[in-house]
Amino acid sequence: MRRVLVTGGAGFIGSHYVHHLLSSHSDIEVINADALTYSANLQSLADIELDPRYRFIQVDLANQQEVEELFANPIDEVVHFAAESHVDRSIQGAEAFIRSNILGTYRLLEAIRHAGNLQKMIHISTDEVYGSIMQGRTKEGEALAPGNPYSASKAGSDLLCLAYFNTYQTPVVLTRCTNNYGPWQHPEKFIPKSILHALENQPLPLYGTGTQERDWIHVTDHCMGVDRVREAGRVGEVYHIGAEQPVSNRWIAENILDQLGKPHSLIQHTKDRLGHDYRYSLQTTKMREELGWEPLISLEQGLKETVAWYRQRWERGEGNAS
Ligand SMILES: NC(=O)c1ccc[n+]([C@@H]2O[C@H](COP(=O)([O-])OP(=O)(O)OC[C@H]3O[C@@H](n4cnc5c(N)ncnc54)[C@H](O)[C@@H]3O)[C@@H](O)[C@H]2O)c1
Repeated sequence: MRRVLVTGGAGFIGSHYVHHLLSSHSDIEVINADALTYSANLQSLADIELDPRYRFIQVDLANQQEVEELFANPIDEVVHFAAESHVDRSIQGAEAFIRSNILGTYRLLEAIRHAGNLQKMIHISTDEVYGSIMQGRTKEGEALAPGNPYSASKAGSDLLCLAYFNTYQTPVVLTRCTNNYGPWQHPEKFIPKSILHALENQPLPLYGTGTQERDWIHVTDHCMGVDRVREAGRVGEVYHIGAEQPVSNRWIAENILDQLGKPHSLIQHTKDRLGHDYRYSLQTTKMREELGWEPLISLEQGLKETVAWYRQRWERGEGNAS
């Protein structure tokens, strides 16, 4: 049995990844270490709670003692999702982002360095570290230019990981992915918020003109990419994961309204986000050619299934827009 520590496994993407690991690898045990902040949701893990290959431990990665205790038992690989993840919250106050994303990653890297026997750490990062890309697609290795406190804290943690590889040969690999969507995303994020507001006939807030572009990828395609990197990614390298099909925020809002049979007049333009990045777009050739990965779910299909998932839960009274 290999033992994989997943940090942030009670969050949106981490919980999908925990499921992916358990269902795709019968020789893997998973330890899920998560602080259970407001964005965690243990309901998403209820179906595997009793799986003998799964264990949950509540850990704040910024707490040195708690992180050291995690490594008291041998761990083969770490997949590090845990982070504060919402840009708007980082604009209201960045301290929690610096604490969890930078200090938390530092504590993890130190614990790994002292444990000395880890085979690989996958650090999960974001296209946002490059800032706004007005045209074309960013390649791995291009300069970072984060435009908000969230992406700056992620860029800081990325650079720490690469510095630990350079200085101590800590076996770190980075992934940077575009915007994710799918079941179990927190309702504060754009797609679930738009679906739930539409279901409740409430205005759908859209920043500025709504022409900003994002490259949406289904969360299970992201998780499969992360797993390819865990299996075959080269340490010290960065890998981009994305669908390479950016669409405007307005396109997403209108698609959701159309699916739910609601009028476009529900869209309500709001004052633009401070420092709003206009466009993100990654080139993902390295993942496709070196690791043989490609996304399998089209945006149209994935969005349709995601709208249906939130709608079913909402109809059962299990999710709302607040
Ligand atoms: N959501 C996206 O579109 C997207 C895209 C690219 C990369 N990412 C990255 O993927 C990762 C996961 O994102 P998500 O959308 O699932 O976020 P999320 O907010 O849904 O989940 C984050 C999880 O991390 C946990 N956490 C936060 N601080 C912690 C701490 N100090 N110690 C332990 N656990 C802590 C939370 O409790 C939560 O369960 C993040 O690193 C994010 O930067 C997200």
